[in-house]
Amino acid sequence: MKNKTAPIGIFDSGIGGLTVAKAVMKALPNEDIIYFGDTARVPYGIKSEETVRRYALEITDFLLKKGVKMILIACNTVSASAKGEIIAKAGKVPVLDVITAGARAAFDQSGHKQIGVIGTLATVHSRAYVSAINEINGGAEVIQKACPMLVPLAEEGWIENEVARQTLQEYLKEFEEYDLDALILGCTHYPLFKEIIPQILHSQRTVVIDSAESIAETSSGKLQELNLLNKGGGKFDCYVSDRPQRFQELAERFLGRKLQDVSVINLS
Ligand code: DGL
Repeated sequence: MKNKTAPIGIFDSGIGGLTVAKAVMKALPNEDIIYFGDTARVPYGIKSEETVRRYALEITDFLLKKGVKMILIACNTVSASAKGEIIAKAGKVPVLDVITAGARAAFDQSGHKQIGVIGTLATVHSRAYVSAINEINGGAEVIQKACPMLVPLAEEGWIENEVARQTLQEYLKEFEEYDLDALILGCTHYPLFKEIIPQILHSQRTVVIDSAESIAETSSGKLQELNLLNKGGGKFDCYVSDRPQRFQELAERFLGRKLQDVSVINLS
């Protein structure tokens, strides 16, 4: 069994998973975190399932070699296409994913009748949210919309400007004819637009669900259950596959803290 001081591994295709890392830092400030952002190969959401699976397994391998005590799949696209394979590879190391967390949060926080999901093309095509929501609540109507332009905008740091606003307006039009109880941000890049999404949404009563908080809470419960809570860590180590400086700038802006050097790793 892993020891309590081992880090938690968190990964995504790029900066999106930082929304999860930030929530974990808040919920579990004494944990060390190793983050991997696959900046050389982002975006994942327009790639085939086989390719995403291969990338995800390479990253899982990297994190396991770093000795992590738990893995958080901070990417919906990976959760939709490779969760089973990652769990199998991780063996005894627990693996949590954002889709299970997001579906659960939508159920807990909303009237659970009409639920909108926005995500990458891959996540929407996989219908993973539809299955996860139906498993918890068979009566829910799930309306999905792929928003492929949002990941490049987020990676560019364009999260509050007019281009972001207009792009979101165009995508969220889809939901005008509904009175959604909840809108799940089914891509970890999308919470970066959290400020403007509620302003654009047609119905003001729609609860916007960000699975980051939900997965952070589940992580805390899981570590407690396994008696693996760390009492005195708090380090945050970042690895990317390309453009470390750019990543560092965006990450520091989003996390509101200075980072140690961001290291570059070539996994393929
Ligand atoms: N942030 C990821 C997700 O949650 C991946 C986005 C992408 O690389 O297309 O789906």
